[in-house]
Amino acid sequence: MVPLGVSGEVKDISGGKFRVSDTVAYLNASGKQVEVKLKQSWPVRVPRRVLRKLPPEIPLVTGQRVVDTFFPPVAKGGTAAVPGPFGSGKTVIQHQLAKWADADIVVYIGCGERGNEMTEILTTFPELTDPKTRRPLMERTILIANTSNMPVAAREASIYTGITIAEYYRDMGYDIALMADSTSRWAEALREISGRLEEMPGEEGYPAYLGRRISEFYERAGNAQVIADEERYGSITIVGAVSPPGGDISEPVSQNTLRVTRVFWALDASLASRRHFPSINWLNSYSLYRNDLRKWFDTNLAPDFNLIYSEAMGTLQKEAELQEVVQLVGYDALPEREKAVLDTARMIREDFLQQSAFDEVDQYCSLRKQYLMLKAIMKMGRAQTEAIEKGAQMRQLQSLPVREKISRMKEVREEDFEKYYSELEKEIEEEVRPPLAEAV
Ligand SMILES: Nc1ncnc2c1ncn2[C@@H]1O[C@H](COP(=O)(O)OP(=O)(O)OP(=O)(O)O)[C@@H](O)[C@H]1O
Ligand SMILES: [Mg+2]
Repeated sequence: MVPLGVSGEVKDISGGKFRVSDTVAYLNASGKQVEVKLKQSWPVRVPRRVLRKLPPEIPLVTGQRVVDTFFPPVAKGGTAAVPGPFGSGKTVIQHQLAKWADADIVVYIGCGERGNEMTEILTTFPELTDPKTRRPLMERTILIANTSNMPVAAREASIYTGITIAEYYRDMGYDIALMADSTSRWAEALREISGRLEEMPGEEGYPAYLGRRISEFYERAGNAQVIADEERYGSITIVGAVSPPGGDISEPVSQNTLRVTRVFWALDASLASRRHFPSINWLNSYSLYRNDLRKWFDTNLAPDFNLIYSEAMGTLQKEAELQEVVQLVGYDALPEREKAVLDTARMIREDFLQQSAFDEVDQYCSLRKQYLMLKAIMKMGRAQTEAIEKGAQMRQLQSLPVREKISRMKEVREEDFEKYYSELEKEIEEEVRPPLAEAV
């Protein structure tokens, strides 16, 4: 690409092998001769101009079920925040996105976090293959390491360098996914530096311009028509981790981040301690892109996808209400059909939302498989409710062999899943029937 702020006519350009500091072309820029080298210096704090920003309409598929289907699928060019207390899985989910997100280029900024986590990326990524291109993941990954043992002043540099590199590739027409772990460390560096400069402190000692800095950073995301070429489009999606002290998101960094990002994955310490991973809380998280993406899912995935999602979400909300009742009167006192709701919700949680980042098969799940998995669970739920209305008991339904098949869906490889699903569908129809009540 032509360096920033340079325009003119190419007078001479050479081919061959070069060092980054060699001159490869000469430009005639309004009478002046400009040398163009492979290495370019860009100002990192100034956002690169684009012709036009477009609304994000395509999901960024991440292969993580709770992210893609359930909650909030991030649209290409969107922004997401992952706040969570310590140990709740912020780093693991960012690594998962870096590994599997359907982007051309991934920029991963390790900002003020542990050094061994960066080493882990360096050792694991070269061994992994991109599910889309079948090439080593490392080829499309840029790592910016500014770990906790490095100077605080460089925290800010790492964030801005990352986003500028992302803009550079966006201008070439690529889709970039940028992860920053963690933006809280950057904010703390701002606080430290601003303190030494004796600036007036704002809320909790952070500088008064904290909010502006954070929003300027997230504003650089987007789906855009680039300045170099009207026909060319590229996007940057930003996923920023926030580590609020004590997990309390009322602190300034979380609040300022939530104000600008449109997706919120609330990581929950109690889910993490129950080993429910990814520990994204389904009742608190949200995605403001859901409506923009509805049409895409309808046409590209399945016409009933949105319906199944709403039904599943409704079941989980109902579960939260019923759990309060259970605490008062006990599970046995519930009517059978409410026991069935609790059972369906349990299947959604355990057999769909939980996804191990360390399982060879389950670490990545295609959209098609996600859809079929949830469809099977909801089909089972509906069949149970119907059977119960005709006199079956939850106790009897609980011992059906098809249940095991549902809980094993995760372990089935992508290529075998269509067959597995069609068998499963038949088994549900055959096994979950009201005559069962009379037969027992
Ligand atoms: N998707 C997952 N599958 C399996 N295990 C997980 C998953 N997510 C998190 N974990 C477990 O939780 C542990 C803590 O996760 P992680 O290091 O991502 O937390 P964190 O929020 O980044 O913590 P910190 O604030 O200390 O950086 C991991 O080491 C792993 O054992
Ligand atoms: Mg971490």
